[in-house]
Amino acid sequence: MPTRTPLIAGNWKMYKTVTEAVATATELVGRVADADDVEIMVAPSFTALAAVASALAGSRIALGGQNLHWESEGAFTGEVSAPMLVSAGCSHVIIGHSERRQYFGETDETVNRRIRAALDAGLVPVFCVGETEAQRESGETFSVLDKQVQMGLEGFSLNELTGLVIAYEPVWAIGTGKTANREQAQEVHRFIRELIEESFSIDLANAVRILYGGSVKPDNAADLMAMDDIDGALVGGASLKAETFSQIVNFKRSL
Ligand code: 13P
Repeated sequence: MPTRTPLIAGNWKMYKTVTEAVATATELVGRVADADDVEIMVAPSFTALAAVASALAGSRIALGGQNLHWESEGAFTGEVSAPMLVSAGCSHVIIGHSERRQYFGETDETVNRRIRAALDAGLVPVFCVGETEAQRESGETFSVLDKQVQMGLEGFSLNELTGLVIAYEPVWAIGTGKTANREQAQEVHRFIRELIEESFSIDLANAVRILYGGSVKPDNAADLMAMDDIDGALVGGASLKAETFSQIVNFKRSL
């Protein structure tokens, strides 16, 4: 059984001013100081990145962007590039979140370009995939995920993808309080791992971390994380408070 260090990531979405983000980050540093068996990442909004980087300095918590543009600079009003994220202190970046696909026209092609930009800048991409409720109900879950994973990772070499993180977030479970049950999540995580094995290699498949996202809370985290192919969580709502996020980070202590 390959051992993968769990990654617990917080996606703060469009919440928190700079002051609020720094306060949460500062409180979190204290609450997770002993969690040396997991990796931790938070992704504040762009405006708070540099200040949160200072608050996290010297701690175990990594910093991530929530998106990036694929060009490194240019006349693209309102966009932020990979080198800019690096210069603000980021080591990770969330790419292809369903909210970006749903509301901002993100496609598998643009996701692919963004992953390229992240890798070129040395950022760890947290590559999000997931089916909608309608797709699940019409039996398309696996074909949708197959397409998202294959197109998102098209053209990359095996070596480039070392360190890749995938987040499976069923759209119907995001912010709804409906969590995929752990068997449903495990089934999809296994499927994604097998896709990586077929397209790349068994070693990459064994190494890639596949996070679950969608209404992860302190009371369901340990249950989900106990499954073989669930290697962590991408947490929205419950990551906004240091208390609840740290309870998820410390999920092993509640087993
Ligand atoms: P919730 O945890 O609020 O359901 O959000 C999940 C998510 O979208 C994380 O990226």
